[in-house]
Amino acid sequence: MPELSPSDAAKDAAARAAVALVQDGMRLGLGTGSTAVFMVHRLAERVRAEGLRLRCAATSRATCDLAGQLGLRIEELDEIGWLDLTIDGADEIDPDLNLIKGGGGAHLREKITAAASDRMVVIADPGKVVETLGAFHLPVEVIPFGLEVTRVHIQRLLDSAGLSQRPMLLRQRDGAVFRTDEDNVILDLSLDCIGDPAQLARGLSTIPGVVEHGLFLNMCQLALIGSPDGSVIELTRIEGVA
Ligand code: A5P
Repeated sequence: MPELSPSDAAKDAAARAAVALVQDGMRLGLGTGSTAVFMVHRLAERVRAEGLRLRCAATSRATCDLAGQLGLRIEELDEIGWLDLTIDGADEIDPDLNLIKGGGGAHLREKITAAASDRMVVIADPGKVVETLGAFHLPVEVIPFGLEVTRVHIQRLLDSAGLSQRPMLLRQRDGAVFRTDEDNVILDLSLDCIGDPAQLARGLSTIPGVVEHGLFLNMCQLALIGSPDGSVIELTRIEGVA
């Protein structure tokens, strides 16, 4: 393998540590994003070397394709039914292990998958750890029908919550409107600092047209933060703490 950049070496260290938690016979959720790519590679290595028998569900077409190329058999989440462990990346991780996800546009399937898992473990480089969520844009997946009306509802919610007024951006990729695996679109909210993530999550969930937002609250039990030198720090959440 070519020499990794410091950031990639940190992601790979976190990925290795997470894959070390995998045991024969497990039902696994495989996350999406550049950190998850390292995880899928390391998982495939273990499967090849140790003959692990796993049942895996992917959180995106991209992860499904990669896993398939590496020889991992992917099943539909509903075929497996329930998962022992989901390993995924994150865009931000706060001290309570609340997350912002969706930088890669896969947070809808990621949230469904994590919610169908006994345990969610997040893997990341140190740049993802924050005191307060919000410096990273908050992705909100919305249905294209009535997009502008949905945008008005979201803006009113942000106004009433006293959150910043910078325009929300309709996500683009390669010069076109980005479409998710479910063929929806994404509004990226620039909020700077989300003082009350639970209140915002509740508000967004009540808006017709909003399919899912990228706040993952009380879902992650362990975050593995890799460093470029290969070391890994474990961050845990005390159950019952919001
Ligand atoms: C995908 O939609 C996201 O939730 C990713 O898990 C998140 O953006 C982290 O991605 P990276 O590992 O590429 O930073």
